[in-house]
Amino acid sequence: MRKIKTVQCIQCGKDHDFDDLDMDCTSCGGNLHIVYNYKLIKKRLTYEELEKNPDKSIWRYMDILPLSSEKHLPLPNIGFTPLYKVDKLGQNIGVPDLYIKDEGRNPSASLKDRASAVVVARALELKEKIMTAASTGNAASSLACLTAGTNLKTIIFVPEKAQAPKMAQLLVFGATVIMVKGNYDDAFELSIQASQEYGWYNRSTGYNPLTREGKKTCSFEICEQMDWESPEKVIVPVGDGNIISGLWKGFIDFYKLGIIEKLPQMIAVQAENSDAIKRAFDSGGDIEPVSGNTIADSISVSMPKDGMSALMAIKDSGGFAVSVSDDEILKAIPEMARATGVFAEPAGAAGLAGLKKAIKEGKVDDGDSVVLIVTGNGLKDIKSAIKATGKPLYINPDINELKRLVDSGKI
Ligand SMILES: Cc1ncc(COP(=O)(O)O)c(C=O)c1O
Ligand SMILES: [Zn+2]
Repeated sequence: MRKIKTVQCIQCGKDHDFDDLDMDCTSCGGNLHIVYNYKLIKKRLTYEELEKNPDKSIWRYMDILPLSSEKHLPLPNIGFTPLYKVDKLGQNIGVPDLYIKDEGRNPSASLKDRASAVVVARALELKEKIMTAASTGNAASSLACLTAGTNLKTIIFVPEKAQAPKMAQLLVFGATVIMVKGNYDDAFELSIQASQEYGWYNRSTGYNPLTREGKKTCSFEICEQMDWESPEKVIVPVGDGNIISGLWKGFIDFYKLGIIEKLPQMIAVQAENSDAIKRAFDSGGDIEPVSGNTIADSISVSMPKDGMSALMAIKDSGGFAVSVSDDEILKAIPEMARATGVFAEPAGAAGLAGLKKAIKEGKVDDGDSVVLIVTGNGLKDIKSAIKATGKPLYINPDINELKRLVDSGKI
């Protein structure tokens, strides 16, 4: 593909041929990174061309995606999720120039659809028959959604504790669902072994280098929605580290194409017991496994699968990492919902909890423009939401009972 210069290993720098790609580095097993021919792409993908393009989906960025053509695209519309300026929430927490990118508005209700769309399109180009993935739930339900209506069969590995709504999505979209008696890291290892054994095309985060390419489209949209500028800070909930590195790549692509003039700082938010990347960033040492225990299932990871590129995104952008407790994450769900109308799953709300902590620690100024990436919809985990809000009031259909409630001050 002429638009792709090389595919480089993040760890050892070895070059690989895109058209004959293994998932990871053939020398050291490191994650791969697609390097584009910006000089060539610059001739086609410009601010002026984008302004004229009526396509309101991620396919408007085809010139800088690792696909040959638009012949084999999944059906549902992906991307162009709203970017809201959330004045009330901004005032409440002391950052008036605050925005929410509502990724729960994608077809399967999470940001993962961006990655799945690109990977499914590539699998169709390659005439693959069977796709697989391991996931805490969202990547898998997204893959199942986007392979629906194609001839691809989908076999999914999820940890046995995966949230019921995510499992329901998988089953409804027709995936074969294998619940692994273990955690996400165990499901991940099994999916890789299955791919090696049976040749199934693997979409797993931090293994397939195309996932980052899909996720970067979120940053392209942010720049367009902010009048062709980037914000000062982008707050991202982090588990494996693939979303944050994908978003960073998007800003870099637009910067190298001359579409934006400055880059944002990337701020990683992790859950306290699932904070391997934060620990490595703060200590300057290697990424070491942690327990991964958190209520925010989507960012519950013991050993991050794309940790190195996440660390690079944080460092290269001059950003930082914060960790938040499960309690802080839970509180952020209704706080965000009540001030903005956006209902986030725990991982999606973790960004708000992290932003509040960063403000308290003096790491965010009240003059900064800040974008919170709300990565997944709250209906994906209603148990946690109700834990945060408490239960509703129950009465018989009797006006006197209602009166008693009003008189008691509960209404
Ligand atoms: C809703 C949500 N938020 C955040 C993340 C974290 O992304 P990553 O694992 O790439 O860091 C995920 C990943 O599953 C997710 O589904
Ligand atoms: Zn390597």
